[in-house]
Amino acid sequence: MNSVSEPLLHLAARVDAIQPFYVMEMMKEAELLERAGRDIIHMSIGQPDFTAPEPVLEAAANALRRGDMHYTSALGIRPLREAIAGHYAHAYGLDVDPARIVVTAGASAALLLACAALVDRDDEVLMPDPCYPCNRHFVTAAEGKPVLVPSGPAERFQLTADDVERLWTARTRGVLLASPSNPTGTSITPDELKRIVEVVRARGGFTVVDEIYQGLSYDAPPVSAVSFGDDVITVNSFSKYFNMTGWRLGWLVVPPSLVDAFEKLAQNLFICASALAQHAALACFKPETLAIYEMRRLEFKRRRDFLVPALESLGFTVPVMPDGAFYVYADCRNVPHPAARDSAALTSAMLHDAGVVMVPGIDFGTAAPHDYVRVSYATAYSRLEEAVERLRGVFKR
Ligand SMILES: Cc1ncc(COP(=O)(O)O)c(C=O)c1O
Repeated sequence: MNSVSEPLLHLAARVDAIQPFYVMEMMKEAELLERAGRDIIHMSIGQPDFTAPEPVLEAAANALRRGDMHYTSALGIRPLREAIAGHYAHAYGLDVDPARIVVTAGASAALLLACAALVDRDDEVLMPDPCYPCNRHFVTAAEGKPVLVPSGPAERFQLTADDVERLWTARTRGVLLASPSNPTGTSITPDELKRIVEVVRARGGFTVVDEIYQGLSYDAPPVSAVSFGDDVITVNSFSKYFNMTGWRLGWLVVPPSLVDAFEKLAQNLFICASALAQHAALACFKPETLAIYEMRRLEFKRRRDFLVPALESLGFTVPVMPDGAFYVYADCRNVPHPAARDSAALTSAMLHDAGVVMVPGIDFGTAAPHDYVRVSYATAYSRLEEAVERLRGVFKR
């Protein structure tokens, strides 16, 4: 064993600037309860309970046997870029040049690449509050400044073109959106998104739209921001719709003029996305695999259609019907419980008294975090039913 005491290393300021997820603390508590024998229902999880379907596993096994596991091009293997382009044609009727597709290690690497490519020190990037918490950290990692715009139910918890016009300054470089959104499951309407793109374009800025949940849309056929012009940058992933979270695979569609810049950055920062995951993902686009995904999408919709009225029957208010993803952003102020006015205290009470884990709003922003909880339905239907019954018992007391 090394007897030299560990020297105190200087930590970069950006480490302090990143807040830990509150839900991680709750997960630790949940784990303690589970170890003590309690049955905990996890409605906090941001990943599908489904895993990669059989054809994807088979493709992965075949690729492993072939031993084809070298570095790939930083932009991804050509057949996968072509398959993704084919997906845009098939699912959205859009003609996307495979040359514009950059395969990445998940949407996370895609968002980091986009910020590395587009954000300079002190540049401002507009995003809604609440939003996916890592978005502000991707911007700060590029030394930019995330500008969180309070976005409530009236705006479907999303940025509006008016917001962008009102808040654009000489330092603003662009907007970072997600549709459907995490934590709210709400999409920006296509008309509003088009207006935002136009306002941003008129100011010479960038629009990045994270479409990671777009495959999980329930009410209207989704409209990809790819259709609003070659200058729009979209992010997507195999994690959610394709049920491949741990495989770490995603992609960007970038403007033709930016492909070289993204390639150079990707080469230097990541070399490439996992070769195994890329070969496996080719099977995602087979008709039989897409049929499995479609059945799973319908199961998510069934869960949403159960959960939203069930939450309302418990005293939660769902101010905007979520149209996608697997989250409900529920206002908890009228729940019949003493902790209703503080979502962090309420989620703690729900964990301890009902064995149900949800995420308090403080993990997603600063505008109205105490009023909301994020409820995930990436959990079996029967477990959702049980969670609702348990909560009914707790709230009645
Ligand atoms: C909105 C959003 N974007 C990006 C990510 C990161 O996903 P990936 O697994 O593709 O890196 C998540 C993960 O939860 C997310 O919710």
